[in-house]
Amino acid sequence: MKKIAVFTSGGDAPGMNSAIRAVVRTGIHYGFEVIGIMRGYQGMMAGEYKKMELRIVSNLLKHGGTILKTSRSKEFMTDAGKQKAADFLHSQEIDGIVAIGGNGTLTGLLEFRKFYKGKIIALPGTIDNDLYGTDNTIGFHTAVQTALDVIDKIKDTAASHERVFIVEVMGAHSGFVAVHVGICGGAEEILIPEVNTSLLSTVTHLISGWRKGKTSSLIVVAEGCAEGGAYQVLEKTKQLDLSVEIGSDGLDCRAVVIGHIQRGGTPVYFDRLLASKLGLFAVEKLIEGADNVMVGEIDNKCVLTPIEDAVYKKKAVDPFLLKAAEILSI
Ligand code: F6P
Repeated sequence: MKKIAVFTSGGDAPGMNSAIRAVVRTGIHYGFEVIGIMRGYQGMMAGEYKKMELRIVSNLLKHGGTILKTSRSKEFMTDAGKQKAADFLHSQEIDGIVAIGGNGTLTGLLEFRKFYKGKIIALPGTIDNDLYGTDNTIGFHTAVQTALDVIDKIKDTAASHERVFIVEVMGAHSGFVAVHVGICGGAEEILIPEVNTSLLSTVTHLISGWRKGKTSSLIVVAEGCAEGGAYQVLEKTKQLDLSVEIGSDGLDCRAVVIGHIQRGGTPVYFDRLLASKLGLFAVEKLIEGADNVMVGEIDNKCVLTPIEDAVYKKKAVDPFLLKAAEILSI
């Protein structure tokens, strides 16, 4: 092996830059030429790249986003697109690729195997934390902290006005951000795609809290929960007649969607450290011949997991956390 390529793809995540830096510096340390492919699979098909030198990745650790840019490519999902991307890699004599991304990026790699002859290794970069084979993904901790900062502010106004706030966090298919934010923000209810909850029981729980003296409440909703996002939950809640339970006007509710703020910003120390460790480990394993695997960290140790398992095996939300959320919010 002489030449490797690194790229970021799918939704950006804070800490991706730290991962790029780690891959570039480790590659150069071991005598490799490292190139950075721009705009993920889109740029791979178009042959957009730059040679990565040591100083290109200077002062990167503190920056959110990704200097290599990113995209979600429809064309790469076709065989013709994958062939184009593989042709580019073969023409540049790239012996191995390091992909940094989430579920969609890794799913793309599975099919790409049939087209590309070099080695493939993946780094888990997504705020969703929904990849099997790692306790944490790069970007998850920063996203949770960002959402929590917003929630702390919302709780001030909720308390002043004695209101219920329904706050939507990201997670189209997973509730990791919602559960962590919910516990740390003191939410009375957390609605996530992994657990079916009836809104009636959600509201009944809120009301029991108000009977015990609460005067404001927080419901954290993951965007992909079965009842819909924050605004849908708000509308459905309004249809349940609560006037009998709480004063003549019922509960005064507001909805907030935190959105893409969660994807940006300065990465917290944890994401920089994780990205640095996994970036180094990925390149070392690639050199040793690892192929079709994702690097991750389990119980503080770097590990390899087949990309297929990382994508298709389900990482469950910890039931102990769900219990904590319930008991600690009474
Ligand atoms: O995969 C990360 C993620 O932030 C999800 O939580 C969210 O559902 C999705 O990306 C939104 O992505 P975009 O707006 O970039 O299409």
